[in-house]
Amino acid sequence: MSITIVTLDGPAGVGKTTVARELADRLEIAYLDTGAMFRAIALTLGEGSWELPVDKLVPELNRLDFDLEGVGRHSALLLNGFPLSEDIRSEQVGLWASHLGRIPVIRDFLRRNQQAIGQVTPLVAEGRDMGSVVFPDAKYKFFLDASIEIRAKRRFDQLKEMGMLEDLESIQARIRIRDDQDRNRSIAPLRPAPDAVVIDTGLLDAQGVLEEVLGHIAKKNI
Ligand code: DC
Repeated sequence: MSITIVTLDGPAGVGKTTVARELADRLEIAYLDTGAMFRAIALTLGEGSWELPVDKLVPELNRLDFDLEGVGRHSALLLNGFPLSEDIRSEQVGLWASHLGRIPVIRDFLRRNQQAIGQVTPLVAEGRDMGSVVFPDAKYKFFLDASIEIRAKRRFDQLKEMGMLEDLESIQARIRIRDDQDRNRSIAPLRPAPDAVVIDTGLLDAQGVLEEVLGHIAKKNI
């Protein structure tokens, strides 16, 4: 029997992380935050790394080794054996990650890593292209969406909670750039897989989204 994979995709600030973590907890499987992988590479390689030629990028990537440990909310991504730094969570690193996400060798490298993890571990996989490209055969696929105003406000509250104060307008401006870049890149652009359930999270809180996702999973299993 193939391993259970639940994919959860959507744009920046839509609330995927909260829902994915809770969902993994309820299903008692691991949670894979693929945005954190792009962010960790961005923080490791630094500003401007998206302008490096491919022959300089590849040896840098070959030095990186991702592992996933634990289950549910206790799932932890390790890079070369160490937990990821909280510094990956800033909006600036998110924007760098989006720049790197347009580069084919970076996407290929991470897709191979993500698929290798999914081959041995049941997962809730969160990102932009989990249902469309990385796990096209996943049994359960969800795509979350909401207006840019709602997403910017959610991201503002989330960053505030982590002690990272940023003003709402610049968060919205960065999200707009990321949206544009993530949706319009030539490989693995952000869009729902044809067989994904699309959920508008604008009128729902995280608990409401979680219940809706769990409802679809239960229905599919009847
Ligand atoms: O989900 P996030 O905000 O942590 O993701 C940061 C950036 O990484 C996002 O703007 C684009 C890139 N990304 C991607 O291209 N594909 C993924 N599966 C996950 C993230």
